[in-house]
Formats: sequence, C-alpha cells, structure tokens
Amino acid sequence: MMADDGPSARVNFRSALRAAFRAALESLAADGGVAIAAHEMPGLLEQVRETADAKFGDYSGTMAMALAKRAGKKPRDVAVEIIRRLEAAPGYGTLFQPPGDPVGPGFINVRVQDSALAAAVGRAVADERLGVALVVKPRTVVVDFSSPNVAKPMHVGHIRSTVIGDAIARILRFRGHHVITDNHLGDWGTQFGMILWGWKHCRDDAAFAADPTAELGRLYRLVRKVADAKPEELAADPAAGALAAQHPAAGSEVLAETAKLHEGDPENRALWERFMPVCRGEIDRIYRRLHVTFDHTLGESFFQPLLAATVDDLVAKGLARESRGAIGIFLGGEDDPPLLIRKADGAFLYATTDLATIQWRLEHWKPDRMLYVVDHRQSQHFEQVFEAARRWGVDGVADVDLVHVAFGTVLGEDGKPFKTRAGDTVGLEALLDEGVDRAAAVVGTDDEGRAGMTAEDRRHVAETVGIGAIKYADLSQNRTTDYVFSFDKMLQLTGNTAAYMQYAVARVEGIFTKGAVDRGQLRRDCRGVLVSDPKERALALELLRFGEALEDVEADSRPNVLTAWLYDLAGCYSTFYDALPVLKAEGADRDSRLAVCDLTGRVLRRGLELLGIGTVEKM
Ligand code: ARG
Repeated sequence: MMADDGPSARVNFRSALRAAFRAALESLAADGGVAIAAHEMPGLLEQVRETADAKFGDYSGTMAMALAKRAGKKPRDVAVEIIRRLEAAPGYGTLFQPPGDPVGPGFINVRVQDSALAAAVGRAVADERLGVALVVKPRTVVVDFSSPNVAKPMHVGHIRSTVIGDAIARILRFRGHHVITDNHLGDWGTQFGMILWGWKHCRDDAAFAADPTAELGRLYRLVRKVADAKPEELAADPAAGALAAQHPAAGSEVLAETAKLHEGDPENRALWERFMPVCRGEIDRIYRRLHVTFDHTLGESFFQPLLAATVDDLVAKGLARESRGAIGIFLGGEDDPPLLIRKADGAFLYATTDLATIQWRLEHWKPDRMLYVVDHRQSQHFEQVFEAARRWGVDGVADVDLVHVAFGTVLGEDGKPFKTRAGDTVGLEALLDEGVDRAAAVVGTDDEGRAGMTAEDRRHVAETVGIGAIKYADLSQNRTTDYVFSFDKMLQLTGNTAAYMQYAVARVEGIFTKGAVDRGQLRRDCRGVLVSDPKERALALELLRFGEALEDVEADSRPNVLTAWLYDLAGCYSTFYDALPVLKAEGADRDSRLAVCDLTGRVLRRGLELLGIGTVEKM
C-alpha cells in the first residue's frame, strides 16, 4: 500500500479518467480521422460521468456517439478506437480496469481497480482533507452575498442569499480558492430617509433608550406606511393614519431627508452615524445565530465618495450621457431605456454604486471571478451593470468573470410569497425562533438515546437541528426555482432533510463510543480497506466522490448538488451497515469497516459544515 500522505496522493478518479480520455481523444484527433477542436474538449470530457447503474461500471464515457456522427463512422467503431487509446493513456492502467468492449450503441464503461480504490480510501482515512484534492489552479473569487438593506428588519427573503452565499464561499475555500466574502449592505438608501423623518417627527426617546433596535424598527414600519400613503394600509393602522393626516407631504419630505443625508447635511449624517451601529447590531445577531461571517462588510455608503468620479469617467469615455436631465448609459439602441447612473436631482443610483464597487474590487482585490448571490428579480440590473462595466473597460474587467448567482422566491405553503397571517413579510428572527422551538418538540419526543442530556444539551441540539433544518431546506432546492417554506417538511427525520443527515452522523459516530474504539489510532493504522463485498465497495467509491460533488457545486454555484450527494452517501452507508457486521466483525474486516465508518462520519460532517450546518453528538 502507498504510504505517501501528500497532496499528490489524493486522487479524484473522475479527473484522472477525464485526463486519460483527453489523451485518447487527442490521439484520435491526430491520427484517427475524427476532427476535434481544442475548444470542444471540455464539453466532450464532461461526458465522462458516474454511470447511472453501477452494474455497468463506475464511470461511463458517452462521446463516441456524437463523434461518430460527425465523422460519418459507426459509433461502436469510434468507441473501439477510443478504448484502444484510453488503455494506452499514461496512468490509466494503475487506476482503472481495461474497459473491454463498448456497450450498446458505443458506451465506454470503466471500473476503478479494486486495489487503487482500497488504497485511496486508506489514504483518505489518514487525510485531514478526507482525500479531496485541492484545485490545480486556485482563483481569487469575490462572493457578494446577504447584503440586506439595513434599518429594515431582516425578513425571510434575506435567508436565501445569506445561506446560499455562505455555502458557496465555504465550498470554494475548501477547494483551495482564495475567497473574499463581502456583505454589500444597503446602508445608504431611502429607508434612512424614513427613519430620519420618523426620528424628527415621532420618536419615542424612552423606547429608543430601552431598545434602540425596536424603536428604529417601529419608526421604519410606521413611516413606510405614511410615506407610501396606501389608503388600505393607513386604514388598518390608526397610528399611521393619524400621522399621514397630519403630514400630507410626508412622502416627499422623506425623500428630502435622504437627499440631505447624501449631500452631507451634518445633522442627518450624525444621526446616520448614530443609527448604523444599532442596525449592525441587529443583523449581526442574526449572523451569529446562523454562524455566518464575512471578510468585509463594505456597504453602499463606503463607495459614496467614488460615485461622482465614476459618473464623470463614464461621461468622459463617451459611454454615459444626458437624457432628460438625468445621466444614463445607453447599452441598447437609441430607443431602449438607458441604465441610469445619476438622476435629474443629482442623486446617484443603485447601479452607480455597483459600477464603482466593481472598479474598487478589481483594483484592491484583483479577483478572477465575482459571484453576486442575489434574488432573480435583479437579473436585469446585473446584466446591465456587467455589460456597462465591460464597456467601461476599467483595469482588470476584461479578465474577470462576473456572475449573477440568482435564486427564486420563498413561497408559503399556499404557493404565494411567504407572508404572516396579517400579510406582513415574515421577520427572520421570529422564523429562526420558531424553527428552533419546533425542532425542540421533534427531538424532545424521542427519549431513546437522550439519557444523560442536560437541558443545556437539549437546547443546543434544538438550536442546531432547527437552524440546520431551515438552511438545509433552502440549500437542497435547485436555487433558481421558487421554494415552498414548510416547517413540517424540513423537520422530518426521514428523507433529504438536515435532521436526517444530522441523525446519520450521530449514528455513524455512535459506533465508536459504543465499541470504545480509538479513532485516532484507527486512522494512523489504516493501510487501506477491503472492498471485496459489493456493498463495501460501493460505499468506498462513493466516499471518494466527495471531491467530484464539490467540483460540480462550483461549476454552476449549486449547493444542492452537495446535499443530493450527501443524501446518497447516507443511503449507501445504510445499505452497507444493514448488511454487514462492523463491531461484531473480526480481524481485518473489523478494522476495514471501522475505517470506512470513520471516514463516512467525517465526510458527512464536513459536507454539512461546508453547507454551514452544524452537527451534534447525540440526538
Ligand atoms: N441590498 C440589495 C437588496 O437588498 C442587494 C445587494 C446585492 N449586491 C449588490 N452588489 N448589488 O436588494
């Protein structure tokens, strides 16, 4: 068995197989009469995937069909040509069995050598990174996520960006990228006009002294109704109704307060500086509870000093020009509405800040990619901003990948946007509390295994399970679709839920306590595992696919690829554990199975951790 613990010993079978296929296809293109352009290669290699049915092998290459068609040959003949070259590709034979003949119309099915598999699992057991190789080319990636508009209470809509962005950042970092997270707070917008106006007209000093957050929240909600002046809202809220009657011009006065703040009015600026820590305190409490952190929190206000120069530069470069008193960037034809960067009254816009932010990040962080994890309703905004940035041509923009990682809306169980019974948006904190309370009820009814748990332990379990459920439910959805928020579903103990996965970790790891096994020793002594039983082999192979799952998450910024894979892994483990004795096994079987259990527990735990989800020892 190999004793090398270095990174070079970490094997990603799919990558290795794709490399062999690359060599085979290059050789086929050189002398096999099938033209393959270099730019087609990545797409062709993506056709090397896990087989749908394990009885055909572990991986399958399906490109022979398409290649044969263009060359006017028989798919099987092309497959045979590829197979011949694949077997001769450097390194193929040490990892994979000879493919044999093509199957069906030209599938090339490949099985990993048992010896290579056994050794790789052995190395993964001894490895901090659980056998997951680092990316060959680390990139600098900015992840712009969460980014709520502060001074308004955070609501359910903010959870998606926060949870998805955090998971993506963790996964990219684990893969070896240089990740910079930035919470692009909306800390400069019209909501401040509302609380400034509210502060000046109807603040409650005693309430502010007692609970500043609650008082600012009250002012925001109250003034928003007064400024919007919707008759039905005012009718439903007497305090707002009375205030609106007293101040018929509230709407424009609120805008004027915002404008004064932006112009540097000392009073409004001082109040803003007083309010900001309160607003930050409020959101930070939620981030702590969610275990989400940021490298930077450069809100919109941070970029304000750069906006005038941004507009001037865009005008000087001929990209932006006046349009009905405002200044806009014309991206389409003359008749298409321009992207506005300065209003007629001189105010800058959301897009202006985003453009200045792109320039600032390129200059200071030199990223290769920037991911914006933001609601799908902002797709057009980002399309326009990205296009404008490219035309603007600031340093580095030609080489950066700008990506809007969009997500759908959170719906209630009635299929409509998630609202409270009273029709308000659901506050995030109340939602987290409810999740934890409900989790307490779920984990509290099961007396088995809870012996020796203190009230403190149980609270910790409920918090971990409740918050985990909310996060996992979100992450396990395809992010681009809307998703239905259901406490009942997300807290189920079976199916693809956090609770099920957390329970799986507790169960696997319970074996070591039960058997009084020293896991450290087990890892040090592990020289490989046995893969003679098909169920053992299937689990071993699945464990080594962790790196493939993470790679696929990165390709399309989709954390649900990881949740789906973890769920499959848990299933594979159940099949293995139900069929084969572990603690009761003997000799080499016992050591091997314990090692596989150890790795399973760690991979599940690490997988959940990369999703930002905690685990507990006992549930
Ligand atoms: N604050 C914005 C909102 O709540 C989201 C900001 C997203 N990030 C950005 N760079 N535009 O809608």
